[in-house]
Amino acid sequence: MKVSGNLKGISQVMMDRLNHLYELPVERGLVVDEVLALEMAAITRITRKEIAVYLDRHGKVLHVAIGNDDTVPLEEISLRRSEKGLSGVRCVHTHPGGDGQLSSVDLAALEMMHFDCMAALGVLEDGTVGTVGIAFKSSDPDHAGILHRVLPGLNALKEIDFLAIVAEIDKGTDQLHTVEKIKNREKAFLVALQRDALLENVEESLNELEQLVETAGVFVVGKDIQKRSRPDAATYIGQGKVRDIQLLAQAEGIDVVIFDDELSPAQQRNLENLIGVKIIDRSMLILDIFAQRAWSNEGKLQVELAQLKYLLPRLMGQGTVLSRLGGGIATRGPGETKLEVDRRRIRKRITDLEQRLEMVKKSRALHRKRWAAMELPVVALVGYTNAGKSTLMQALTGAQVLIEDKLFATLDSTTRKVDFSDGRSFLLTDTVGFIRKLPHHLIAAFRGTLEETVEADLLLHVLDGSSEQAEEQGDTVHRVLKDLGIGDKPIITVINKADLVTYEGTIKRLLHQYEPAVAVSARKKTGLEALLKMIEETLHQDLVLVQMMIPFHKASLVAEIHSQGKMIKEEYLPEGINIEAYVDQRLKSILERGLVTP
Ligand code: GTP
Repeated sequence: MKVSGNLKGISQVMMDRLNHLYELPVERGLVVDEVLALEMAAITRITRKEIAVYLDRHGKVLHVAIGNDDTVPLEEISLRRSEKGLSGVRCVHTHPGGDGQLSSVDLAALEMMHFDCMAALGVLEDGTVGTVGIAFKSSDPDHAGILHRVLPGLNALKEIDFLAIVAEIDKGTDQLHTVEKIKNREKAFLVALQRDALLENVEESLNELEQLVETAGVFVVGKDIQKRSRPDAATYIGQGKVRDIQLLAQAEGIDVVIFDDELSPAQQRNLENLIGVKIIDRSMLILDIFAQRAWSNEGKLQVELAQLKYLLPRLMGQGTVLSRLGGGIATRGPGETKLEVDRRRIRKRITDLEQRLEMVKKSRALHRKRWAAMELPVVALVGYTNAGKSTLMQALTGAQVLIEDKLFATLDSTTRKVDFSDGRSFLLTDTVGFIRKLPHHLIAAFRGTLEETVEADLLLHVLDGSSEQAEEQGDTVHRVLKDLGIGDKPIITVINKADLVTYEGTIKRLLHQYEPAVAVSARKKTGLEALLKMIEETLHQDLVLVQMMIPFHKASLVAEIHSQGKMIKEEYLPEGINIEAYVDQRLKSILERGLVTP
């Protein structure tokens, strides 16, 4: 075994470390192990060069190469190359500069070498890993292309069920609902109905649908609003409009027509027969985006469950075949093979998914218990999608969370610890963004991320102050919170994107309307101190003064007070430590419990 590539100027110590990479095993199923990834990053930080390792499916390192600052040579390792199949080898390499986004050279190599996958670890200045790029080559004829995604960090990479994905690609039936399609963008036409609502509201909703469609990676060719007092029972829109769209679909090569409201199964079927392209509605689109964006095991199970529940009533009277849904958007969830199974089997699958989710939930509860054991207050970020929750999370914690100017970038919640300046701390957790017309069964599908919200001590409602629809979005959030039964939790409204608001009156009005509220710019990091102060005051408003004598063998309780309470007096006497401090009820009971146990 040797290290190949540009070895000029590499010291013996570095050579030893490069050679040592061969000995680091990778757990089966993981793209790369944390230890291996961090060691590659450390070597890159020192040498400022790209490092590549090639691994087989057992997680064994087959080859190590070192390149320049922006490329690493491809290695002629013996690959089981075939026309269609995968080689059984993957390439993981580093990118100095912190950005894991794969280059066109990386993607070309993936295609040419039939790698199982190509991954790039963005190495930050301090030698840790920033974003991680990952790409798979799709072998499904309906999904031809490369699927490339940038993840927020190593933790997100760990969530990927690598072996399951390559197994699907190998079978040629890959439903890579976890990865975004970047080639062959589909073309969509959007349709809304204006009934008694104001035209303005219909337009807003349609614009939001357009953003959602783009989030799903689909190109919007055009959109149309039809005025009608009520929907046509058979085709939702009128016959004339159906014909117009049919002609347009042929002329423009439209692949899918998307309706802004939920269609009945019969309407969907009739429209499909008349127009001759795929017809989907808002719910199905949202499910599809969820399917593309859920990365964790639990997220994926929940999405599949929601998709199947949505599909089940739509199977009626259609015999057993669902293949009309073949290809592209809105098919990434329940796999192609599953499209041919009958309703009985779908029901069985639903039960099975529910059971598996139950197990995941149990382990999740354990995970939460670990947080709870830290006895720290929990603050949850809620808000309309794209309001800036992830950006605020990052500004407050430095956590690497996925931030994209797309709707629903966040699907799996992340929790991080934030410290106040006096050393006390709280846990901050990010949640999925809310959206208008979000069907209830979808809210249920994401109970997982919202459970943290339910258990939080305080909610931060992030509102995009620069949006013309700030108030409507705020109302939606309040409605969803009420639906979740947590409308009366303490809440601070964070008016975000203040840097984009030019008219000062807007901020003043929102602050007044949503009191208690604070204006910030998460991106420019302004207003954060005022926000932290407000959080601190709200969390600690029920502080009580305690005076107690803590025996020396319980001195850890003193540290507890320093980290979570406010120490007023601390006297070391022969019989123990005499303290006087402000603590909240939670800490008070910890102290009392601590003093009674021997
Ligand atoms: P979901 O995951 O969809 O729920 O979105 P989110 O609420 O987590 O929003 P995210 O933090 O991903 O931000 C959405 C977009 O708004 C990104 O492009 C951010 O860079 C941008 N953004 C967030 N905060 C600010 C801000 O204070 N000012 C400006 N100008 N842009 C911001």
